[in-house]
Amino acid sequence: MKKIAILTSGGDAPGMNAAIRSIVRSAYQLGVEAVGIEDGFAGLVEGRMRSLSCRDVGNTIHVAGTILGSARAPEFAHPDVQTKAVSNLRAHQIDGLIVIGGNGSQQGGAALHRLGFPTMGVASTIDNDLLGTDQSIGFDSAVQVACEAIDRLRVTARSHHRAFIVEVMGRDCGELALHAGMAGGAEIILVPEQEPDINQVLTKLEEAKGRGKQQSIVVVAEGCKLNGEALFNALNEQGPSFPIRLTKLGHIQRGGIPTPTDRVLATQLGHHAVDHLIKKETSGYVAGIQSGTLTLTPYDEVTSGTRAIDPKLLALSDLLAC
Ligand code: F6P
Repeated sequence: MKKIAILTSGGDAPGMNAAIRSIVRSAYQLGVEAVGIEDGFAGLVEGRMRSLSCRDVGNTIHVAGTILGSARAPEFAHPDVQTKAVSNLRAHQIDGLIVIGGNGSQQGGAALHRLGFPTMGVASTIDNDLLGTDQSIGFDSAVQVACEAIDRLRVTARSHHRAFIVEVMGRDCGELALHAGMAGGAEIILVPEQEPDINQVLTKLEEAKGRGKQQSIVVVAEGCKLNGEALFNALNEQGPSFPIRLTKLGHIQRGGIPTPTDRVLATQLGHHAVDHLIKKETSGYVAGIQSGTLTLTPYDEVTSGTRAIDPKLLALSDLLAC
């Protein structure tokens, strides 16, 4: 291989720049040129790309977002669009592609691999819902932001003897809610993987107050059957004995400074993908980490579903909210 391309796709995640940096510099060490595609699959189809030198990726390791830009590109599901993407790559004499992103992005990469274009993925999403990795790039940073927010809300909740509902992102996965809630000492964590019971939530909050708790924190994942707003309304309809406030963290969770854990993970996964794409001419896998070991999981497996939360962690958090 003489030239490889990189793109970031889907929701941006802190650490994506560290992955780009790692890929560019790892390729350079193997004598291979790197090209950055702008705005994910949308830019690929439009042929928007630029050469990336080791200097171009300097001073980016600590910056959230993606220097390449990202986009949701639903049109990429169309076979004609995918064929056009492969033609563009070949027209630019590109020999391989690395896709940094989450579920939808890896589906796009899988389509290019099926069309015979050498493609590898790097697991990156704040949702941590990707199969084939214990942790995705961006998750740790998003947990950090959400946990900090919970810590701050706890202060004002205590002053006013209120319950706070904190809605976090995560799409249909409860990982972010579970880890942020557990780290923030939440009284209740609601995840999409479990059916919420409004009476149980209210009873738990009233009991916590009865045990002398001055405040309560309920962390709810956006993908729950009852999202933050629905939960807020449902609880208030029951006439609770304490005031309730709602905070929706939203995209703030995507803009945190990448944590050292995310920077190191991104550096490792980027290098792992390059190593296999260029040196071993491997295609069709997503680089991840499992039990501390760098892994490659086939696209078919990664795109076959989403990661499940660890119910034991949720049960432990519940046990200690006494
Ligand atoms: O997949 C990452 C994520 O931040 C989800 O947690 C969230 O549901 C979604 O992206 C938001 O997407 P958008 O930025 O397109 O509104």
